Amino acid sequence: MSPYRVYDDYEALSRAAGALFAEIAGEAVAARGRFVAALSGGSTPNRMFELLGRSPLCESVDWPQAEIFWGDERCVPENDPRNNARAARSRLLDRVPISEDQVHPIRCSGAAHQAAADYENLIRRTFGSTPPRFDLILLGLGEDAHTASLFPRRPALLQTRRWVQEVPAEDTGQPGRVSFTPALINQAAQVIFVVSGKSKAGAVYEVNAGPRDPDRLPAQSIRPVDGQMLWLLDRAAAAKLP
Ligand code: 6PG
Repeated sequence: MSPYRVYDDYEALSRAAGALFAEIAGEAVAARGRFVAALSGGSTPNRMFELLGRSPLCESVDWPQAEIFWGDERCVPENDPRNNARAARSRLLDRVPISEDQVHPIRCSGAAHQAAADYENLIRRTFGSTPPRFDLILLGLGEDAHTASLFPRRPALLQTRRWVQEVPAEDTGQPGRVSFTPALINQAAQVIFVVSGKSKAGAVYEVNAGPRDPDRLPAQSIRPVDGQMLWLLDRAAAAKLP
């Protein structure tokens, strides 16, 4: 069982996640002069982003020293409501003193393979040749235990060399995606899952307390090499944990 913290409800969870984001940012800037983070997609982090985009949390992050990436993106236009970067910009990044050249959205409304290669090259330039060690990678969890855009029984999971991988569009009408791979995520100094709601309780239990089966439960492939991992849950999402 990875370390986890449980909060009464979504609002308390979002407040705690925002405060922890600010704390990790402060530690990174103090230690290394910058804070390199990858944001998660989906709807769960929205309230956390809103809180980080306003006082008092907003002032507690040294935004001019931040470099913001995304752990995954749906290959849709930037103004599409499904676009992860759009959600974070409107609630957070458009409201804080961070310049556009510190914000690195995954641009993949075209060919996902090229977008993945381009993003991986950007990460190499950011970190140099050493393995890329993000100060913080935020992750969500799907009801099927996917995280980022690492879906059950899909090849992206098996990548051990590449850091960013394209995920072909599904026949269910899901758009193509670009995702960090477990190889990249597991290099991070700190990985934080933020999960809310009773619909996720089964996946939270299976990933953390069930048998190991990362091909069926992709979030189980997230095991930081020498970083820390923490699950922030509301009571509903934690309901099935022992
Ligand atoms: C995405 C996300 C994905 C998300 C989970 C949870 O692009 O969809 O990165 O991994 O975090 O699907 O989504 P919700 O927060 O909307 O439940």
